[in-house]
This record gives sequence, structure tokens and C-alpha cells, in this order.
Amino acid sequence: MNNAITKIGVFTSGGDAPGMNAAIRAVVRASIYYKKEVFGIMRGYEGMIDGDIVKLGARSVGNILQRGGTILKSARSQEFRAPEGRKKAFDQLKKHGIDALIAIGGDGSFAGLHVFFEEYHLPSVCIPGTIDNDIPGTDFTIGYDTATNTAVEAIDKIRDTALSHNRLFFVEVMGRNSGYIAINSGIAGGAGAIIIPEDHMTFEALYAILKPGEETAKKSNVVVVAEGSKIGGAIELARKVAERSSYFDIKVTILGHLQRGGSPTYFDRVLASKLGVAAVEGLLHGKQDVMVGVLDNKISYTPFETVRSGTHAINEEDLRIAKILSI
Ligand code: F6P
Repeated sequence: MNNAITKIGVFTSGGDAPGMNAAIRAVVRASIYYKKEVFGIMRGYEGMIDGDIVKLGARSVGNILQRGGTILKSARSQEFRAPEGRKKAFDQLKKHGIDALIAIGGDGSFAGLHVFFEEYHLPSVCIPGTIDNDIPGTDFTIGYDTATNTAVEAIDKIRDTALSHNRLFFVEVMGRNSGYIAINSGIAGGAGAIIIPEDHMTFEALYAILKPGEETAKKSNVVVVAEGSKIGGAIELARKVAERSSYFDIKVTILGHLQRGGSPTYFDRVLASKLGVAAVEGLLHGKQDVMVGVLDNKISYTPFETVRSGTHAINEEDLRIAKILSI
């Protein structure tokens, strides 16, 4: 046990994700369980720089397990990218006696913490919290399961109205450059086609999937498009199809930030709870400059350096399954 650590600072950074609150709760309660003080740093690196730091107790994280968003708020900080900003942040942490950090966020947040660790050597552990599921070193990121369920629910609803009106819908889901939400919500929602950045599907190939509808009188369909699609987003693809054929009555729905909110699923609550406890225990056992994740259902700690240079590839097999089932 690392008894040199006395005060742990926890913060959320980057895009929020359902389950972040469950992770905060786990970090706070595990810290207190191990007799450490714990501080919440508001608004990510922005609050660190401004000294917006509050002491947390076991009761201050009551009744948040089931809530979406993050009680600590989140931000993407430009100032922290500069050495002067990081110096201000370090001075604030020192003022509060904080000697270890736990960040809950995505790859951008980790990169910032890695640089900070190299400069100031504060033991730090990251917890992967992003709906994108695009982080290596963990099979799942906090929020991904909830966001995908939200997308599936939306696709189900769109399918109802698509069928009633014989319409072709392009549904755009989030995921920045990652197709995880798209591929799995597409399979679960029975999409006619799924467009993800990792695939090399061309517009011609997409059109070849839709075109037979003209012969078979299949007008109604749902195409799921990842926002990072290399052949255009939902609006552009809808426009291109409309230019080719007047047969389809086309509509577009962009799910957007809807996918970032809402009560976390049981899966995200459990994942967040496990990772929160493991982050604290990792710190207390001397882990630093690492990300805690779950690989093959086991807690694992991956050095930031490895996380930064890797990718979390989608399973090619999933694409094949989606294609077989969409005939
Ligand atoms: O990284 C999470 C995410 O929701 C991405 O899927 C999306 O591209 C991005 O954040 C949107 O960011 P913002 O909330 O800043 O618009």
C-alpha cells in the first residue's frame, strides 16, 4: 500500500458519458474506504487551473449512481495544452495538498494527463469514459453501452414510421472516428446497411444494396451511418441517393447528443463501479501513468504510452454478420 498518497483528486474531462457519475461515486467511496481524502476537481482541467476544487465525502456522492452526465461537470481545456496552464494547475493541486489524480474521460484527456505526469510526476490513473468505445486497453468504455442502447431505441422508433410511410431513413449516430455505436446499433436495430469509418464501403456499394428495392418494391429501409463515415454523413448520403433515384422517399435523422445523456444501463453502472475501485486500488499499489480497463472480464492496467499509440479496432466479424443479415 502506498501510504505516501493522502489526498486524491478526481475529475471528469472531455465529452461526458452516462456512467461517469457511477465512476465518481466509486472513486470517492473507495478512497474513503482506504482512509484517503478525496477532492472533486470541477470542469476538468479548466477547474484544475482555476482551483475550482471541492472536498467530497461518501454522502456527497449519494443518489448519483443512476444519473447521466457528470456532477463534476466536464470541459475540453485549451489552456492546459500550454506549459503555463499546466503550471497553474499544479500550483492549485499543491495548494490543496492533492498528491494523486484520477481522470475519467477519453483519449484527449489521457494525453493531457500523460504530459502532466511527465512534468510533475503526480501518480495518475485514467478511467476510460466515452461513448465512442475507441480506447485500447479496455474492451468497453463507460457510456458506450448506454449510448448504443439509446441508438437502438431510436432506430426501433424510426423503423415504425419508416414502415408506415414506406420511407428510406438515414440515421446518423455518434462515435467520432469509431464505428462501434454504428455497427452494434445497426445489427441490433436490423439496419439495411451500416456505414462506418473503419470499413471501405463505397457509395456505389451502398447504392447497390438499396437499388434492388426498386425491383422488389422495398422502399422502406434504415441505413445507420457513423458520423465519421468516409463517404459522407447521413445528409450527404441521402442527397446522393436522391440524385440517383427518385424512387425513394428519403428522410434523415441525426441522433447527436441525445446519445450522451440518460440514465446509465446496468452494464455501465457495474463497469464504472469496478473501474472506480480499481483506479483507487491501483494508485495505492503504486500504479502511475496508466489507464485502468477491463480485458476479457479482468481488470487490467495499461501504460498511457501504450494506450496512446494503439487503436481499439472493431471486430471485422461484426461487419460480416451485419451484411449477411441485411439481405
Ligand atoms: O467523444 C464523444 C463524442 O460524443 C463523439 O462521439 C462526438 O464526435 C463528440 O464527442 C462531440 O463532441 P462535442 O460534445 O464537443 O460536440
